[in-house]
Amino acid sequence: MTDSTRFELEGKRVWVAGHSGMVGSAVVRRLESEGIGSLISASSSEVDLRRQDATERFVDDTRPEVAIIAAARVGGIHANRSAQADFLYDNVLIAMNSLRACQLAGVEKVAVLGSSCIYPAEADQPMREEYLLTGPLEATNEGYAVAKIAALEYGKMLRHQYDMDVISLMPTNLYGPGDNYDLETSHVLPALLRKTHEAKVSDSSTLTLWGSGRPRREFLHVDDLADAVVFALKNYSGADHLNVGTGEDVSILELARLIGRIVGWDGEYVFDSTMPDGVMRKLLEVGRMRELGWEASTPLEAGIESTYRSFLEETGLTTVEIS
Ligand SMILES: NC(=O)c1ccc[n+]([C@@H]2O[C@H](COP(=O)([O-])OP(=O)(O)OC[C@H]3O[C@@H](n4cnc5c(N)ncnc54)[C@H](OP(=O)(O)O)[C@@H]3O)[C@@H](O)[C@H]2O)c1
Repeated sequence: MTDSTRFELEGKRVWVAGHSGMVGSAVVRRLESEGIGSLISASSSEVDLRRQDATERFVDDTRPEVAIIAAARVGGIHANRSAQADFLYDNVLIAMNSLRACQLAGVEKVAVLGSSCIYPAEADQPMREEYLLTGPLEATNEGYAVAKIAALEYGKMLRHQYDMDVISLMPTNLYGPGDNYDLETSHVLPALLRKTHEAKVSDSSTLTLWGSGRPRREFLHVDDLADAVVFALKNYSGADHLNVGTGEDVSILELARLIGRIVGWDGEYVFDSTMPDGVMRKLLEVGRMRELGWEASTPLEAGIESTYRSFLEETGLTTVEIS
């Protein structure tokens, strides 16, 4: 662990790249209590971060003092494996252009969001930060993972070469308000929430799970991640990246049953073995964040209950009594 330094956000001009996304909007909500000077943001149609000139012009014009890079092309296992090239291309460009623009404009502090898929597919569990680049990546999301590793390494090199204060956070699977419920592109938890709700309203007695239901995954509420981002900006400065998770995992079948209880559906699960399982276990070792003084605070059940309420509001579906 390298140095820890107190950094103040109060009064600062803060750029949240990807402010409209699930993570970005949680960060914007969390920043409301920090007394920042102003929030800088732009949608991808205003400033496409894959375009170097547009990105550099935007950062030069708006002059942020702090940047949080939460813009990315994001998707679940299906979207990732069917568009590896696009996930690599878009995410490398977004990260490189954003970081380079921040370096040229002399941004004081930058936090970059990566993902737990940077670790080798066969990594020991729970995964420690130092397992990075110790083995081959999971094949289903290699494009995305390579882009996230490139961003992390570029951040380290900017720190080394330009003494730029870039920190990188690697969150586990996230869920919460603003999630993507499109079954073609969504992650497992929002997909299960939607499928279970649909099974309930259509009175279906079965629900199909992709794969075997046995892989184990960790889930972090996005408001906890936003809190971790603010905490790390204020309390951490170092080249080492930080895992952000709960340190606890559940099997996909256990998750499905928990969602079933919350939604109020009690049918049978059917397993679609033509769909991939991905890595059998993925759990982050979260000791570094704990040592710095941060821990996740939203229990999974309470987090899914509130997310189910957001799902009903966001999708415009009839609100039903949560059991
Ligand atoms: N979701 C998860 O479970 C998860 C887990 C671990 C890590 N992360 C990381 O967290 C970060 C944010 O993820 P998220 O779930 O919040 O994604 P999201 O909901 O899909 O939001 C993506 C954001 O990125 C912006 N964006 C996409 N392409 C852009 C482009 N070319 N130029 C400018 N902006 C662009 C979008 O802006 P527009 O809406 O204007 O297009 C949107 O605000 C990513 O780095 C991701 O890797 C997410």
